[in-house]
Amino acid sequence: MFGRTKNKAWKNLENIYKHFKDTQMKDLFATDPKRGELYAEQLETMLVDYSKNRIDDKVLEALFGLARERGLKEKINDMFSGKKINTTENRAVLHIALRNRANTPIYVDGRDVMPQINATLEKVKDFSEAVRLGRFTGYTGKKLTNIVNIGIGGSDLGPYMVCEALRHYWAKGINCYFISNIDGTGCAEVLNKIDPETTLFIVASKTFTTIETLTNARTCRKWLVDALGEHAVAKHFIALSTNKEEVEKFGINPDNMFAFWDFVGGRYSVWSAIGMIIAIAIGYKNFERILDGAFTMDEHFKNTEFEHNIPVILALIGIWYNNFYGVHRYGVIPYDQYLQYLPAYLQQLDMESNGKSVTLDNKYVDYATGPALFGGAGTNVQHSFFQLLHQGTEIVPIDLIVPAISHNEIGAHHQILLANVLAQGEALMRGKTEEEAAAEMEAAGKSQAEINRMKKYKSFSGNRPTNTIVLKKVDPFTLGMLVAMYEHKVFVQSVIWNVNAFDQFGVELGKKLALNILPELQGTAHNIEHDSSTAALIKYIKNIRK
Ligand code: F6P
Repeated sequence: MFGRTKNKAWKNLENIYKHFKDTQMKDLFATDPKRGELYAEQLETMLVDYSKNRIDDKVLEALFGLARERGLKEKINDMFSGKKINTTENRAVLHIALRNRANTPIYVDGRDVMPQINATLEKVKDFSEAVRLGRFTGYTGKKLTNIVNIGIGGSDLGPYMVCEALRHYWAKGINCYFISNIDGTGCAEVLNKIDPETTLFIVASKTFTTIETLTNARTCRKWLVDALGEHAVAKHFIALSTNKEEVEKFGINPDNMFAFWDFVGGRYSVWSAIGMIIAIAIGYKNFERILDGAFTMDEHFKNTEFEHNIPVILALIGIWYNNFYGVHRYGVIPYDQYLQYLPAYLQQLDMESNGKSVTLDNKYVDYATGPALFGGAGTNVQHSFFQLLHQGTEIVPIDLIVPAISHNEIGAHHQILLANVLAQGEALMRGKTEEEAAAEMEAAGKSQAEINRMKKYKSFSGNRPTNTIVLKKVDPFTLGMLVAMYEHKVFVQSVIWNVNAFDQFGVELGKKLALNILPELQGTAHNIEHDSSTAALIKYIKNIRK
């Protein structure tokens, strides 16, 4: 076993934790009236307030010490300079190159990657504008107004989340659809709504071997060919992939293929050609603003000392809860309807990156790595799982994200929303003692017997951590910053945990076993050995489907 606990900085944090663990945030606020301003960082159109956490200067200093001991600065430089930090796959990790707006050379195997990235961006620009302006039309000459992205995981969640987040910027008349699940319902429901003559299918798959995507793409292709004939395919299908050979095999014209590269991980690919549907929906200029925002965060991350570095601070606070408080869950609550798919996107980003148990030195970890991430849009979730956040037995750190200005300032809606997000952070931190609950009930004229019976139920332990992230507005630039912030946060945590954030072998076993079970369900293979539960389930389902 690899003994991280033997490290000096880790031991130091364990000692600090022993004395600090029961510290109440409300006492920290009482003793330092400037705490709210001190523990906050602003970058362009984003403010990150991390003051409502169980931290003080000593804790933070020790966490920065841990980052230094883990060589974080060098690791950041390694990523930005194109070093092959994805060691299990022997690849560089260069999503940052996709938004390298300074266009400084970045070398992989002695070759600058920027020219190919710029060329693809130009191609995305030309094609997306041609579709938007009706220069590239469907087979029958009609404008393509239904844009369907067929992909899954990183080839779906990023474009889907960003398109929804920036719905306000969609061109009039353009509709975007997403087909991801192998469940035929996804396909059927989209195909029912659209007209083949005005539909562009974007087959998005890094590997172009993913069974869900290829099955969905084949179904859509057949639907199109049945309606318009084989010749129509070239005008209605494009591919976003790293795998030219498979794209050609599938029958998509290589001229209609938009490339990216193996140094871009699926869950980090929204900035590449995978963003095609975004560029069509919101326009290439707006797409570039997303890249600008991400680049701003990259520069901040690369050049700012840890003490003021937003992704570093958020990552280390996460480590503090995960590895010292033993809290292995974490919530992201965007108070903005447009950002409703952000938690799903971050789930892949965080859990596929850091859900690992083997270190970069090929040893099993003996400490917790990535937490389980969940979330949903506020205020809706206040009426579902927030009960547990306030009064459950475990603490659950959450990020509250809210724009100061809404795209839809209707009446008092946004003021009420803002009041709610701020109130949640305050309530979770402050709580309510039994005495306070009793005093409230007394003021409301309740009997002493009623007060005694109810005061525990009505009290809140408080001391529950939140980060509050205030965005000026959900615009392309700010969204780019926000997403890049989380990417870097995940990376920093992977460095502390000494795991590779850029592979995902954990998704393979289930995929392989599904390929075994499929022929059994189809009746073309029999007697494959399974545990008795799986065997009985196969039998039961086959019986029902007879
Ligand atoms: O199964 C997981 C995964 O490999 C993700 O990492 C990836 O984003 C997704 O599948 C889709 O892969 P592809 O883009 O190659 O179809």
